[in-house]
This record gives sequence, structure tokens and C-alpha cells, in this order.
Amino acid sequence: MSADITPAGIGKWTEADFANALHDGIRPDGRILSAVMPWPYTRFMTDDEIHALWLYVHSVAPKNVGGQLH
Ligand code: HEM
Repeated sequence: MSADITPAGIGKWTEADFANALHDGIRPDGRILSAVMPWPYTRFMTDDEIHALWLYVHSVAPKNVGGQLH
């Protein structure tokens, strides 16, 4: 199971937090993401591409089965 990145999972994240995670693999709490999450590759995405993903992720209905994963 991977992290929940629907709004229920990263609901308090700002777009800057999201961009930091995809560019540098760093969560808002300072934890480095496992490289199972392919941020060594997503770090090459442009700001425009990350913005488009941010909009997409927020267009998907929140998932809240079993509560938070983290
Ligand atoms: C464009 C597609 C993707 C986006 C936007 C994305 C975004 C994210 C974000 C924002 C987190 C942090 C969530 C949190 O810590 O609460 C995360 C974690 C994670 N992602 Fe992705 N992800 C993507 C693709 C993938 C893929 C393809 C995989 C694996 C095949 C993956 C595996 C993981 C794992 C395992 C974590 C948890 C890492 C940890 O907690 O150390 N992700 N992802």
C-alpha cells in the first residue's frame, strides 16, 4: 500500500509542500520519502507539470476508508 495522496491524505499540504515532495523527496515534516516513491525521477518534472498534477490530485474524490495511513 502506498501513501494516500487524495485530499484526505495530503489535505493540509500546500502546493509548495507537494512540489517539494516531488522535486526533493521531502515531506512537510522533514521526513525523506522512500525512493519506492519515484521522486528521483519526478524531480525532473517542470513546475508546470507539477502544477497540473496538483490540480489533478485535487480533482479526485477524497478516499477515507480506514482513516489516515500516516
Ligand atoms: C505522478 C505520480 C505520483 C504522485 C503525484 C505521487 C505523489 C506522492 C506524494 C505527495 C507522496 C507523499 C505522501 C505522504 O507522505 O503523505 C507519495 C508517497 C509515496 N509514493 Fe508516490 N506519487 C506518484 C507515483 C508513485 C508511484 C508510481 C509509486 C510506486 C510505484 C509511488 C509510491 C509511493 C510510496 C511507496 C510512497 C510512500 C513513501 C514514504 O512514505 O516514504 N508513488 N507519493
